[in-house]
Amino acid sequence: MSRRASSAIAFAIFAAVVATIYGRGASPTAAAASPDGSAIFASKCAACHQANGAGAGPYPPLAGNADVTSADTATAIATVLNGRSGPIHVNGKTFSGAMPAWKDQLSNDDIAAVLTYVRSAWTNKAAAVTADQVAVARNPVAFSGRQIFAAKCAACHQASGQGSSAYPPLSGNPDVVAADPKGMIATIVNGRSGPLVVNGTTYNGKMPTWKGQLSNADIAAVATYVRSAWTNKASGVTEQQVAAAGAPVLTAVGASIYSAKCVACHGANGQGGGRGAFPALAGDALVNAASPAGMAAVIEHGRSMMPSWKGQLSPGDIAAVMTFVRSSWGNKGGPVTEQDVDAVK
Ligand code: HEC
Ligand code: HEC
Ligand code: HEC
Repeated sequence: MSRRASSAIAFAIFAAVVATIYGRGASPTAAAASPDGSAIFASKCAACHQANGAGAGPYPPLAGNADVTSADTATAIATVLNGRSGPIHVNGKTFSGAMPAWKDQLSNDDIAAVLTYVRSAWTNKAAAVTADQVAVARNPVAFSGRQIFAAKCAACHQASGQGSSAYPPLSGNPDVVAADPKGMIATIVNGRSGPLVVNGTTYNGKMPTWKGQLSNADIAAVATYVRSAWTNKASGVTEQQVAAAGAPVLTAVGASIYSAKCVACHGANGQGGGRGAFPALAGDALVNAASPAGMAAVIEHGRSMMPSWKGQLSPGDIAAVMTFVRSSWGNKGGPVTEQDVDAVK
C-alpha cells in the first residue's frame, strides 16, 4: 500500500476516533439530505462500469469486487477522488484502463453517496461511506486540524476563531498569519501568559501548553488549520517546523545551560550555596510563581551578586533554563516561552 494511502487511513482512523468521542461524525440528518448515489452512478459511472456493476472491456467490475467492499474505504475513496490508471487485478483478471478523477466534479457528499451506493448495490453489502471520510482523504491535514481545534481550542478561542473578552481572536490576528509561523507554533507548543496585545486589545490570560498532549503532527495540523481557517490565508505548518519550535525549551537544553552557567552558585540540586549568599532555587517562591515574569526579570537584569544574562544568553536559552529550573527539584512552575522572556522590559 502506498504511503499516501496508509496516511489517509491513519487520518481516517483518527477522524473516526474523534468523531466517536465528540459526536461529530456523519449525522443521520446529513444522511437524509445527502444526494442520490444511484442517480450519480447512472449518470457518471455506468457508461464504463455498466448499470449492473459487472464492468466490460477495460473497465473492471464493481459488483463482487473485494477492493470496493473492503472495510477499509480509503483506497476506494482515493480512486474516485484522484482517478487511477495502469494494471489493476480484480478477481484474477487484469484490467488496464484509466479511471477519471472526480474530485473537481463531485462534492464530498456526492462521492460519499455514490460509493455508498456502489458498496451496497447488486450483491455488494458493505457499510456506507461518509462525507467526512471523503473530506479526510481530500485534505487530511486541514481536516484533522479542524477536529483538533474543535476538541481542544474552540472552548476558549471560539469555533469562529473570534475569541472573547478573555481569549484573543485567532481569526484576523497578525501573529497567527505571520509569514514566519515560528512564534505561533512556539505559543501552541509551550503555552504563554501575560499581557498580549492583539489588534489593539490587551489580553492577560494563560494559554495552556500542548507539549506532551498533542503530537508534533497534531500541532502542525491544528496550526495549519488556524492559519487557513475563517478569513486567514497563511501557508501550512510542517511537523519539522513544530519540532524546531519546540527545541529551545527542551528540558535537556535547559539542563545543560544550567550546569554551564548557574550550577556554580545555585548548586547541582538547586539547593543554593556560598553559605547562604546564593539562594536556593528549589522551592523558591519566585521560581514557582504562576507568572514567569519576575523570575525572567531577575535573570535578564541580574540583582546584586546575581549576574545579568541579557546579551549572554539568547531569549530562547533563557526560556529553556527557566523551564528547566521551574520543573526540577520539586518545583512546579509552568514552562516558559521565548515570548515570555522577550516581554520583560
Ligand atoms: C471512463 C470510464 C470510467 C468512468 C466514467 C468511471 N470509471 Fe471507475 N474505473 C475505470 C477504470 C478503467 C478503472 C480501473 C483503472 C485501472 O486500471 O487502474 C476504474 C476503477 C474504479 C474503481 C477501483 C476498483 C478497484 O478494484 O480498486 C472504483 C471504486 C471505481 N472505478 C468507481 C467508479 C465510480 C464510483 C465512478 C463514477 C463516479 C466511476 N468509477 C467512473 C473507468 C471508469
Ligand atoms: C483555556 C483556554 C485556552 C485554550 C483551550 C487554548 N487557548 Fe490559545 N490562548 C489562550 C489565551 C488566554 C491566550 C493569550 C495568552 C496571553 O495573554 O499571553 C492564547 C493565545 C493563543 C495564541 C497566540 C495568539 C497571539 O496573538 O500571539 C495562539 C496561536 C493560540 N492561543 C492557539 C491555540 C490553539 C491552536 C489551541 C488549541 C490547541 C488553543 N490556543 C487553546 C487560551 C486558550
Ligand atoms: C555568580 C553567582 C550566580 C550565578 C552564576 C547565577 N546566579 Fe542566580 N542568583 C545569585 C544571587 C547572589 C542571587 C540573589 C540576588 C539577590 O540577593 O537579590 C541570585 C538570584 C537568582 C534568582 C532569584 C531568586 C529569588 O527568589 O529572588 C533566580 C531565579 C536565579 N538567580 C536564577 C539563576 C539562573 C537561571 C542562573 C544561570 C543562568 C543563575 N541564577 C546564575 C547568584 C548567581
